[in-house]
Amino acid sequence: MSQLDLVIIGSGPGGYVAAIKAAQLGLKVALVEKDPNLGGTCLNVGCIPSKALLHSTEVFAHAQHGKKHGVVGGDKLTFDVAAMMANKDKVVSQLRGGVKTLVSKRGVEIIHGLGRLGGAGKVVVRSDKGERVLETKSILVATGSVPVELPFMKFDGETVISSDHGIALGKVPERMVVVGAGAIGLELGSVWSRLGAQVTVVEMLPTIGGPSFDPDVAKAAQKAFEAQGIKFELGAKVTGVKKGPGGAALTAERDGKPLEFPADKILVAVGRKANTTGLGAAEAGLKLDERGRIVIDDHYRSNLPGVLAIGDVVAGPMLAHKAEEEGVAAAEILAGKPGHVNYGAIPGVIYTEPEVAGVGLTEAEAQAKGIEAKVGKFALQANGRAIATDATTGFVKVVACAKTDKVLGVQMVAKGASEMIAAACAHIEYGGSAEDIARTCFAHPTLSESFKEAAMAVSKSSIHSL
Ligand code: NAI
Repeated sequence: MSQLDLVIIGSGPGGYVAAIKAAQLGLKVALVEKDPNLGGTCLNVGCIPSKALLHSTEVFAHAQHGKKHGVVGGDKLTFDVAAMMANKDKVVSQLRGGVKTLVSKRGVEIIHGLGRLGGAGKVVVRSDKGERVLETKSILVATGSVPVELPFMKFDGETVISSDHGIALGKVPERMVVVGAGAIGLELGSVWSRLGAQVTVVEMLPTIGGPSFDPDVAKAAQKAFEAQGIKFELGAKVTGVKKGPGGAALTAERDGKPLEFPADKILVAVGRKANTTGLGAAEAGLKLDERGRIVIDDHYRSNLPGVLAIGDVVAGPMLAHKAEEEGVAAAEILAGKPGHVNYGAIPGVIYTEPEVAGVGLTEAEAQAKGIEAKVGKFALQANGRAIATDATTGFVKVVACAKTDKVLGVQMVAKGASEMIAAACAHIEYGGSAEDIARTCFAHPTLSESFKEAAMAVSKSSIHSL
């Protein structure tokens, strides 16, 4: 192969999107992937399989509770876990094929093997076929992240499991304890709870969902999940796991008092960490921060000339769409164009039912920045489409600058929030005001009208609430 313009290590949403963009811009690109399939965590063991499982279990839950809609026999339904897993695998397989086609049709060479930095302008790829050295002008590291393991309770794949195992269980556990009330814990906790597992979520913070949601949003979501049967143990610090002939139990403490939660499966979802395994970072002199993430500048450049990094392996929210945006921007920069990501408009979504979504500043973040904010809220209970479709749980909240009316952030707990938040992202991207949203025509009846009404409520002019 003649000299390449760009070698990308890692084919997750960051890497493969960067490969496509760079090829579109005329660069000669190779994409190195250690796994047999492209798509990384998101496609193979993360976002996509979990969405398939969430959908299957939603279908089941809706059928079970469909009596008032005329669905008879919901209380007698049974569930076939193997069929659900087969459907999930089919979804993943279809998308793997799609990514491979998209990448290869753009002329990107796909090389399977473990890529490592091999000195200036070189990537060494090791596979069972041996080692191959790629010569390139630039290197983009997009090696993603791996689940964080608690040092005192290592993953054993049987009792103490990570999300990788949690999306592939062969049967419904009787009792599942989830450690961590972040996106993974809440999504997979919902999946297994809907199928009948007694799910208890143990979280060290006083609220669920992490710091990117305001307490009122987190509380409303918690109440909705509790109504579905999920138990929450907040403010509890996990101390270990007891395994004995009678089964296992997670041990924790709160205010110095010991707690114990018997469990068949303990799903640890306490975050993910940057993955630089096998990259040869130390040998190459690649600078990492205290959390093992590659240190980059505003243009994704590491301390090594010609080596850039994006996605979960660098600082910022570990989200597929953040990695995608960075992949596009990095490719543009390498092609001599002004690549840029607006980090103030990256949405966060938890795909439960109802979903939880947010973009921009929370009310608390605006206050912490010393910005005087006005808040408008609208409850789904007052939305016609929500009443017609059993979707009355939750609310939409718009945070705007008190002086300029510019929208600073939007948060919501609502069915379909993952789709509704897109309109908020666009408004924030364009620097729109709450009045701009209020004067935009939304289709009726839609759940999205709650967003418009919340924007109206910023100036106390909501039509459908008092
Ligand atoms: P997370 O960082 O979102 O949440 C972890 C939670 O665990 C936090 O609430 C934290 O306070 C808690 N925690 C940490 N240590 C603990 C301990 N020892 N005991 C009890 N609680 C503890 O991490 P999560 O859910 O594992 O997700 C990992 C990454 O993947 C995140 O960056 C997340 O945003 C991303 N992701 C995003 C999804 C989405 O966008 N829907 C879905 C799945 C993952």
